[in-house]
Amino acid sequence: MADGIPIEISGLTKRFGQVTAVDDLSFTVEPGRVTGFLGPNGAGKTTTLRALLGLVRPTAGTATFGGTRYRDLPRPLETVGAALDAAFHPGRTARDHLRVVASAGGIRSARVPDVLAQVGLSEFADRRVGGFSLGMRQRLALATTLLGDPRVLVLDEPINGLDPEGIKWIRGFLRSLAGEGRTVLVSSHLLSEVQQSVDEVVIISRGRLVKSGSLASLELEVSPRTVVDSPHRLRLAAALDQAGLDYTEGPEGMIVDEPDPGVVGHAAFVGGVELSSLHRLASGLEDSFLALVGEGEE
Ligand SMILES: Nc1ncnc2c1ncn2[C@@H]1O[C@H](COP(=O)(O)OP(=O)(O)OP(=O)(O)O)[C@@H](O)[C@H]1O
Ligand SMILES: [Mg+2]
Repeated sequence: MADGIPIEISGLTKRFGQVTAVDDLSFTVEPGRVTGFLGPNGAGKTTTLRALLGLVRPTAGTATFGGTRYRDLPRPLETVGAALDAAFHPGRTARDHLRVVASAGGIRSARVPDVLAQVGLSEFADRRVGGFSLGMRQRLALATTLLGDPRVLVLDEPINGLDPEGIKWIRGFLRSLAGEGRTVLVSSHLLSEVQQSVDEVVIISRGRLVKSGSLASLELEVSPRTVVDSPHRLRLAAALDQAGLDYTEGPEGMIVDEPDPGVVGHAAFVGGVELSSLHRLASGLEDSFLALVGEGEE
């Protein structure tokens, strides 16, 4: 596998007349990870991706692949696979659609059956795309991005409209692509939709960066609590008091104001208390995301 290529967004601003769609946005997307590009409707996700792919001209700043603008890439389809507003000729079969794109991009047609198989569309290869379900179209869009065996994938809302089976499939698929050292950027307006698919998150709102980092760090930050229980709750309570930890009692045990279960486990150990459960409280992430992006204001 060749070296990975990061996506680098630096000071990117895009104005459409009076509307500032993207506002001094900077972030980096690393290879070998699946990165979720998140924000509510109108946050500027598609505009950022369009700037990255040279489809709109930035008002200021740059959006590059390891320092190279899309239009300066020597063999773009073999570097970047992008799916934005996928449109297909309804009368064409899936195979023909891929052949046309391959031929236009200077990619050998032997790749066509390969990518059809990769996305699980082989048996539908010779059906007209006009009769495809939304899930099948999403798979065909993904197959199209893979034609050049690119090291970077840029996918705008690829999970939107998929059924649970399709979502499960695409999660595994994105992970395997990142596992091969590729850079995978996936936009979504729902954190819950990509929560199980991504390693990293970049969250924007009204064109501005709200937060970027690992999903694990976001989970820690927004739900900084640990749930712990013991067959001897009174002794557990005493051990938590002894360690200076704040808690409330819930049906599943003590909910402790401490993000690291290790700290809570250590307090129990020091107090000599047997535990029946110990885990981080994971709920509330979507609520926290909505709070971060200011949903419900206006
Ligand atoms: N070509 C354009 N002309 C004028 N305004 C535009 C244009 N493209 C986008 N905008 C505006 O820029 C803002 C950001 O839009 P954008 O499509 O980038 O958001 P998004 O995050 O992709 O939203 P969604 O989740 O709905 O896809 C919106 O206010 C939108 O109306
Ligand atoms: Mg969009």
